[in-house]
Amino acid sequence: MSSASQTLTGRLGVHPEATQGKSRSTRAQRWDRLVVMTTTPPRAVAASASDLRKTYGAGDSEVRALDGVTIDFNQGEFTAIMGPSGSGKSTLMHCLAALDTPTGGSVVVDGVELSTLNDKALTTLRRERVGFVFQSFNLIPTLTAKENILLPVDLAGAKPDQEWFDQVIGAVGLADRLGHRPNQMSGGQQQRVACARALVSKPSIVFADEPTGNLDSTSGAEVLGFLRRSVDEFGQTVVMVTHDAVAASYCDRVVFLRDGRIVDELRSPSRETIGEHMTALQVGSAPGGDL
Ligand SMILES: Nc1ncnc2c1ncn2[C@@H]1O[C@H](COP(=O)(O)OP(=O)(O)OP(=O)(O)O)[C@@H](O)[C@H]1O
Ligand SMILES: [Mg+2]
Repeated sequence: MSSASQTLTGRLGVHPEATQGKSRSTRAQRWDRLVVMTTTPPRAVAASASDLRKTYGAGDSEVRALDGVTIDFNQGEFTAIMGPSGSGKSTLMHCLAALDTPTGGSVVVDGVELSTLNDKALTTLRRERVGFVFQSFNLIPTLTAKENILLPVDLAGAKPDQEWFDQVIGAVGLADRLGHRPNQMSGGQQQRVACARALVSKPSIVFADEPTGNLDSTSGAEVLGFLRRSVDEFGQTVVMVTHDAVAASYCDRVVFLRDGRIVDELRSPSRETIGEHMTALQVGSAPGGDL
């Protein structure tokens, strides 16, 4: 066996002798090769929710914003969360990103169950393992683009990884805007700064709540293109809330929420299939799905 194939079988966890024994039949050897070629390890889970519940108010004014949500977000996938206004999309994101505390159920981010963490550990997790992009950019107006992007790293008292910083800035196309303050940039540029800020600490997962909601279609496409590249080129995991079928069509998967529950899901979505599912959601039944 060549050293290259030994390395390959070693990486795949197949003992080298299993593919070369003289007493084994040719058919068995072919089967071994087939197993090596077709066995791809399952993707690891970046974040998950289990029977997640969030209730606001009590008695007559009680609102069940989340009513038992169970979901996994695989590493290296771009997921959209869609659903009517008030269906619980932002509440789900905030609970997953440790920005809000659920009433029941559990959230695991990067293998850590959030309810086991004290306030200090939650702050560290939010800073180091989670990136968040808000609809309204949330940049600090007195800081330059570069200072805004490096803020999470500075707050952590860490040294920026220059190579990674340059890679992110290159991907987001902001190299010539680093000295500008937010009011000297367009909305699209500001949101790209916010995306770079979310990525600079190499988080396990990035959450984006309607990141293109305040942008025109050209600026929106720039931001979506960047989020897509961060998944394809850097293996980033991204979860994005959106009302827009075009934005959701950049994703690998779309999850549909209604009344605080997951009611439908699409893989490899297109604008057309997303539109059909959204229409079905409004009228109460999804194509091929039992609502
Ligand atoms: N702080 C709060 N106090 C009381 N009710 C709340 C609070 N935050 C959210 N809700 C309620 O929880 C439900 C889910 O709200 P959420 O903001 O998650 O919806 P959404 O799907 O993000 O909607 P939108 O598309 O309009 O942003 C809504 O009925 C909302 O009124
Ligand atoms: Mg919302």
